[in-house]
Amino acid sequence: MPRIVKGSGPLDAKIVLVGEAPGAEEEYSGKPFVGASGRLLTAMLGSVGIDRAQCRIENVMQVRPRGNNFSEFYLDGAKRRSPGRELVAGRARLLRDLGAMNANVVIALGKEAIKTLAGKPNIIQWRGSIIPTPFGKVIGTYHPAGILREYKNRPVAEIDLKRALE
Ligand code: URA
Repeated sequence: MPRIVKGSGPLDAKIVLVGEAPGAEEEYSGKPFVGASGRLLTAMLGSVGIDRAQCRIENVMQVRPRGNNFSEFYLDGAKRRSPGRELVAGRARLLRDLGAMNANVVIALGKEAIKTLAGKPNIIQWRGSIIPTPFGKVIGTYHPAGILREYKNRPVAEIDLKRALE
């Protein structure tokens, strides 16, 4: 059975960050964003003056996808148009939890988060925009795992995080 990785940090945080799903290290420790992506996230937050400990950290999915591949949560695989039952439930759970939180801003890390939080189809066009939603303002930026692959995106993501802080 895959291990469930719940959110971490204060439930009344002003800033909530939402990722995709736990990876191996998260599954092992039971905490979100503790692996390489998490270390980068902590560093980026720190460099714009956000203390990670003051933030709530959530994921769209609380279980690790098979093969670490988020497409496994879709019925049509890499096309990612038709979410499976587990993903539908995961999205509903996240939106319900956010509804009970009352954050000032919710930061969507990557495409799956911005899709779930704001119904937007990609992060490239939507990152940096402030999107009003029923549970607060959403601002999207690149997922740290993507930044590890494409490091030139780090300064852009830091601009987005700074905007969220302001
Ligand atoms: N990537 C995510 O999206 N979430 C985690 O918790 C870890 C890595």
